[in-house]
Amino acid sequence: MNQVETIVDLRSFVRQARRAGKRIGFVPTMGYLHDGHLKLVEAARQQCDFVVMSIFVNPLQFGPNEDFNRYPRDIERDRKHAEAVGVDLLFTPSVEEMYPHEVLTTVSVAHVSQPLCGRTRPGHFDGVATVVSKLFQIVQPDAAFFGQKDAQQLAVIQQLVKDLSIPVDIVPCPTVREPDGLAMSSRNVYLTEEERSQATVLYRSLQQAEQLLAAGERQAAVIQDQLTRTIAAESLAQIEYVEVMHYPHLKEATELVVGDQILIALAVRFGRTRLIDNLITTVK
Ligand code: PAJ
Repeated sequence: MNQVETIVDLRSFVRQARRAGKRIGFVPTMGYLHDGHLKLVEAARQQCDFVVMSIFVNPLQFGPNEDFNRYPRDIERDRKHAEAVGVDLLFTPSVEEMYPHEVLTTVSVAHVSQPLCGRTRPGHFDGVATVVSKLFQIVQPDAAFFGQKDAQQLAVIQQLVKDLSIPVDIVPCPTVREPDGLAMSSRNVYLTEEERSQATVLYRSLQQAEQLLAAGERQAAVIQDQLTRTIAAESLAQIEYVEVMHYPHLKEATELVVGDQILIALAVRFGRTRLIDNLITTVK
């Protein structure tokens, strides 16, 4: 595995791979790698011949009171994981390399960026859309791999690629969970023991949603209400949102009908840690 820190070096390695006729797969991350990230690489390896991973904690997507400074970082550990799962080229640019000047051009995806996390994290998805656009320009991959764990982010990127005719296949990959159901996240390390044990309620409530749907529940408000109760029963949980939406255009759902593609999305705080999880399903 090669590791590069500059855009010039990155382009030179990718150019070589492309000249050799290889299909380029790209996995953008902010590092502190876990199995969720590594499964994206696995999917990329299956569909591509040359896999590029980026590790960049992107300041543009963090709000002023968010965790940019304390976001977990361990490049040495990440390097080993990336190499072990078969990343060919690891891109670890500095903030100065990515943003040497004040950024005057940003990318903003209307509507899908607004609800859910867009409401509590203003500007977050502009930061994501801007850095992902920039990374796509730098790497110029044939395919890029994103986790459904961040369902709204995925919807924003799919819209962005469509609107700007960016020639990259966006490949959604399923959420990877701990044995007790908690969705893997670099931020899980922030949780205290008690918070960690209560945090399983996110997955439990999504399973409850599946059961409600299977039992024929069609009122979004009822599902929302039941899940809210389940989560609120955990003493440390502070609910930011529990929502049922149509997917991927993220319009609010009220009465569900068979065939609807829906997203049931949760954001819950435990102490200083904000967790998200979701279920994407088709109403049967
Ligand atoms: P990060 O949180 O590091 O996630 C990188 C990729 O891994 C994203 O596509 C995310 O959806 C996926 N991922 C994270 N946890 C996952 C899990 N438990 N199962 C499956 N996939 C998972 O998302 C970002 O970084 C950034 O916003 C980024 C897209 C890199 C732009 O800065």
